[in-house]
Amino acid sequence: MIPSIEWVNNKVKMIDQTLLPHELKFLEFDDYRKVAKAIKVMNIRGAPAIGVAAAMGMALATIEYKEFPKENFLKSMGEAAENIKNTRPTASNLFWAVNRIWKIITDFPDTPKNISELVIEEVKIMAQEDINVNKNIGKHGATLLNDGDTVLTHCNAGSLATVQYGTALAPIRAAIEEGKKISVIADETRPRLQGARLTAYELHYDRIPVKVISDTSSGLLMMLGKVKKVIVGTDRVTSDAVFNKIGTYLVALAAKDNNIPFYVAAPTSTLSLHETIDDVTIEQRDGLEVSNVLGKVQIVPDGVECLNYAFDITPFRLITGIITEDGVFSPEELLKKYR
Ligand code: MRU
Repeated sequence: MIPSIEWVNNKVKMIDQTLLPHELKFLEFDDYRKVAKAIKVMNIRGAPAIGVAAAMGMALATIEYKEFPKENFLKSMGEAAENIKNTRPTASNLFWAVNRIWKIITDFPDTPKNISELVIEEVKIMAQEDINVNKNIGKHGATLLNDGDTVLTHCNAGSLATVQYGTALAPIRAAIEEGKKISVIADETRPRLQGARLTAYELHYDRIPVKVISDTSSGLLMMLGKVKKVIVGTDRVTSDAVFNKIGTYLVALAAKDNNIPFYVAAPTSTLSLHETIDDVTIEQRDGLEVSNVLGKVQIVPDGVECLNYAFDITPFRLITGIITEDGVFSPEELLKKYR
């Protein structure tokens, strides 16, 4: 797959993921406010991609404000940081990325112009780092997969959800590169259909065998022995649970009931181990995403309210292993290593 986001000639270039799988179109922004909006309306989505987009948004803001006196520069950058952080509340990477850039802005007693150059260099490093991290997740995760395995995944934690290569799809890509035959079952992932639209798109693009199922089918397929392993991504890992796309918890329950290993691919930028479940805000999006399929066909009677929680919580007890760029860990080992 091509990169989902890039820094090109002092602009942010990204795939418009709302148009996939029908159209591969790129958006280009030179205003951080437009990048913030793109995160909010999900032109770009997936925790690591959101993180890089947020950092690049900050870099655009430094360009806009670099001629300001230092004090005004810092004030305006603070406002830009708040604007970007207020887009989506659940993915750790968003806050991790803005804070990483904020540290550069405040740590260096330098002119706004020089700070802007440093920040631009940093976002390029972050984009490359994301790919390297995902490749390492792939290398470690591939050891869990056997030739002939069928892996079920939920939502899209692939190349499109990162800069490139993906997190949950990385072990699958790496295992295939090693010569193993692996096929994928993708939950469609209502209401935004990231599994049907995006996971299927990028795997098909890379000629990796994939079948899409309705979200309600995964339990049956596990019971029928058609799923060997489950691998999902995550937006945030706390000291007691993994937050990921709504529906992940039900997949984990079904996996437990059928003795199927349930793995979470988590770059360390998603770890927030000083927090517990109660500290996290689960994003609630417009009910229209549920009542109107992709904003087109209304499937709920007029006047009926829809609830649209974007993420759910999978407790550690349902998780076999967490794959980071450093290795595969049980939840207990993860806490020991990173907390
Ligand atoms: O609402 P989205 O599409 O941003 O949600 C994406 C997910 O839930 C992914 O599984 C998660 O961000 C991990 S992406 C590597």
